[in-house]
Amino acid sequence: MARDETQSRRRFLIAATTVAGAGGLVALAIPFIRSLDPSAAANAAGAPVDIDISRLEPGAMISVRWRGRPVWVLRRTAEQLQGLQAPDLLQRLKDPDSLEPQQFGPEVVNWHRSIEPEYFVVVGICTHLGCVPDYRPEVAPVDLGPEWPGGFYCPCHGSRYDLSGRVFRKMPAPLNLPVPPYYYSSVTLLRVGELADKSKENWGPQTW
Ligand code: FES
Repeated sequence: MARDETQSRRRFLIAATTVAGAGGLVALAIPFIRSLDPSAAANAAGAPVDIDISRLEPGAMISVRWRGRPVWVLRRTAEQLQGLQAPDLLQRLKDPDSLEPQQFGPEVVNWHRSIEPEYFVVVGICTHLGCVPDYRPEVAPVDLGPEWPGGFYCPCHGSRYDLSGRVFRKMPAPLNLPVPPYYYSSVTLLRVGELADKSKENWGPQTW
């Protein structure tokens, strides 16, 4: 995305978050998630979901449902992005370079697993047995230990993922969290479930 577009988006970032689903806008508080469900019919049909990211604050995450599953958009801070490239983190990850096909298209095969580093789009389903992980952005909380860098923690069997959804080694979960097909339909609007050429993709990762 061009630099002037990125700057333009930043100018529009303000206090709250809204999500555009199949039928309207919903205000959202930070830092965590409130789900917005498009209509049941749209969801059942696997319709694309539009997400307004204009008011998503750094460190905040929003959730929508797509194909009946939670899709999260996390706006990562500069500090979080820097942490994702730390050598001591990379050596603790099972698939740091996203070699497994758990994401759609070459645009998201990179260390940040996203089109733009700042905005991370991911399906919030653990690749072990399908629980929904918790968003745990804090570093080294008491319950997760001193080596926790911030990420996603699955409460069912303890799988850990970093803030790019990359699973740590020696976890029950075998794969990174899935990144769905998406694109920027405008500077501040994401469309999840479709590609920029408007085609739909009947895509699914190895595990949901
Ligand atoms: S379902 Fe997440 S660790 Fe088992």
